Amino acid sequence: MTAIAADLDALVHSAEGAFSAAATPAELENAKAQFLGKSGSVTALMRGMAQLAPEEKKTRGAAINQAKQAIEAALNARRQALKDAELERQLQAEALDVTLPGRRQSSGSLHPVSLAWERIERIFASMGFDVASGPEIESDWFSFTALNNPPNHPARSMQDTFYVDMQGEDGQPYCLRPHTSPMQIRYASAHARTHAAALARGEVPEVRVIAPGRTYRVDNDATHSPMFHQVEGLWLGENVSFKDLKVTYLNFCRDFFETDRLQLRFRPSYFPFTEPSAEIDIQFQEGPLAGKWLEVSGCGQVHPNVVTNMGLDPERYIGFAFGSGIDRLAMLRYGVSDLRLFFEGDVRFLAQFA
Ligand code: PHE
Repeated sequence: MTAIAADLDALVHSAEGAFSAAATPAELENAKAQFLGKSGSVTALMRGMAQLAPEEKKTRGAAINQAKQAIEAALNARRQALKDAELERQLQAEALDVTLPGRRQSSGSLHPVSLAWERIERIFASMGFDVASGPEIESDWFSFTALNNPPNHPARSMQDTFYVDMQGEDGQPYCLRPHTSPMQIRYASAHARTHAAALARGEVPEVRVIAPGRTYRVDNDATHSPMFHQVEGLWLGENVSFKDLKVTYLNFCRDFFETDRLQLRFRPSYFPFTEPSAEIDIQFQEGPLAGKWLEVSGCGQVHPNVVTNMGLDPERYIGFAFGSGIDRLAMLRYGVSDLRLFFEGDVRFLAQFA
């Protein structure tokens, strides 16, 4: 009895060994066949029972059945283990690392020149200035002649101008405007037309405007770009003086740079469209640029010939104009030393202003 039980025990053990040695479901099915298949060991044992006496059959049968169940249990356990391992392998292979930071759609931001531009508009609007814009491809008349540059006058070559290969319906040569000053004429003459009735009654409705925009000159170095930005200012009325210019520009600078610790200097200069003319220099009393005089604008009292070309009476209208570099103002405000950085489109540079 013991001997018989021992051989079944050994059989169960060897089945368990064979099953756990099977590394894949196919190997496991092969191993199963050796024990439980048609010509497997267990099946052979069952067949061998035919020769036994009825009494022996009973006990031996029960023992074989037990062994068979143990083998089947081992088989199922191994099947499950292989299935689990396969699932685990798949999960590993398809694993998502949810700890990785997502790739966010980065949102854009305004260019530093646009930031400065918007700031300038806001400040002058708060001082009662209208904001105007006009064409970048401009006629000779608005660019030069109306601004008191007579044909062939050397002042006309002060700007190295990009001329455009076209002639307008007005027969004028055209250029990429070398400054925003044409907007003085455009805006003020529109004003003269709008207020024709009031002007005829002898009234003097004020002109107060800024005109920011793109300008072009044949120039390219660390402080000059062939495309740059200016803001034109114009304030005309019955009694608008240089004093008003100084106060307006000083207030603008204090607001723009968010400090009272700065000074302005008006240095005599020459422009055909203003008389007298000046350059406005700015000096900060603190910060990295402290102590240096930095040129930010041309300005002057609007020349009577220009007032006439606006369709206004120079006997009634007097005032000032200025033309400032927006890029220059942006460079000073944001501490940028090379103008070209503004126009290279390097996101690493631009993102710093977001
Ligand atoms: N248009 C001049 C320039 O581009 C600047 C200026 C504007 C000067 C208005 C005086 C008055 O240099």
